[in-house]
Amino acid sequence: MKNFVNMPGFPGTRMRRLRRDDFSRRLVREHRLSADDLIYPVFVLDGQNQRQSVASMPGVERLSVDLLLPVAEECVKLGIPVLALFPVIDPRLKTPDGIEATNPDGLVPRAVHALKAAFPQLGVLTDVALDPYTSHGQDGLLDDSGYILNEPTVAMLVKQALTHASAGVDIVAPSDMMDGRIGAVRHALEENGHILTRIMAYSAKYASAFYGPFRDAVGSAANLGKADKKVYQMDPGNSDEALREVALDIAEGADMVMVKPGMPYLDIVRRVKDEFHMPTFAYQVSGEYAMLKAAAQNGWLDHDAVMMESLLAFKRAGADGILTYFAMDAARKLRQQG
Ligand code: PBG
Repeated sequence: MKNFVNMPGFPGTRMRRLRRDDFSRRLVREHRLSADDLIYPVFVLDGQNQRQSVASMPGVERLSVDLLLPVAEECVKLGIPVLALFPVIDPRLKTPDGIEATNPDGLVPRAVHALKAAFPQLGVLTDVALDPYTSHGQDGLLDDSGYILNEPTVAMLVKQALTHASAGVDIVAPSDMMDGRIGAVRHALEENGHILTRIMAYSAKYASAFYGPFRDAVGSAANLGKADKKVYQMDPGNSDEALREVALDIAEGADMVMVKPGMPYLDIVRRVKDEFHMPTFAYQVSGEYAMLKAAAQNGWLDHDAVMMESLLAFKRAGADGILTYFAMDAARKLRQQG
């Protein structure tokens, strides 16, 4: 063994030295997950004392607003900054134009009121999209051929966003993928005095099969049937197109941008972060949650280990935060780890 220390490469450099002990692994760790990074999506029901489990999303429940309040309280205690609301709309209120989305006394505005009154410090995000409200399960208005119309849909989304803003929501998140909707929503918010309402744009949202369990949860799956959303959501084969979408949303006034789904699209998260340096979020969607849960339930994967690893991977890819159904479990785990 002569002069090895002066030689480039092995053994002067032994990558395993820093991996030897927990202290040095912690010392050189580049990315970390914190409760501050988490947004917790929840499904809200009408009525009182209503609780329904979602078969395809073990551990996830649809809750009426009164039962949601203790969940919100726990989010505050755990340091989760934002709760994202997804309504389960009574089928009798669903119409081809989804007009219930603009009802100021609807489920979402009532839930926003209740949450902000009880926990003003907890951020509330609402999804701006028509699919929970339409009788056909699409995110927009249809023409006679069934094609999703752009401008009439945007007009409805603007009304929906204003309804949420008037109810006191902190963040509106248009998830519909219509062209020009961020600009239209931003303009309307400014015109109506909601100058501090934040927009988190679902900018690069793909036409993904990973949304299946979510559509069960909000009850749009049956309405949608075998139809898909390929005429407005992005083609999974595209990557440059995601950058064009994000650029447009930033130009139109988005405060934060999002990539969705998450794990199969971490390359997009990285490109978006590197290109725009914007607050960038990723959505670990229902199907991603379902597959990890199913494998864990079978004893094929270690639940907590894959949960934490998958969330850390989002941070490493460049995400500032993650929408995830694991938010509460992950925040509890982080608390235990100290
Ligand atoms: C509605 C919406 C969807 C999701 C979030 N907002 C479903 C869809 O576009 O069909 C999916 C979330 C998930 O799968 O967890 N526009």
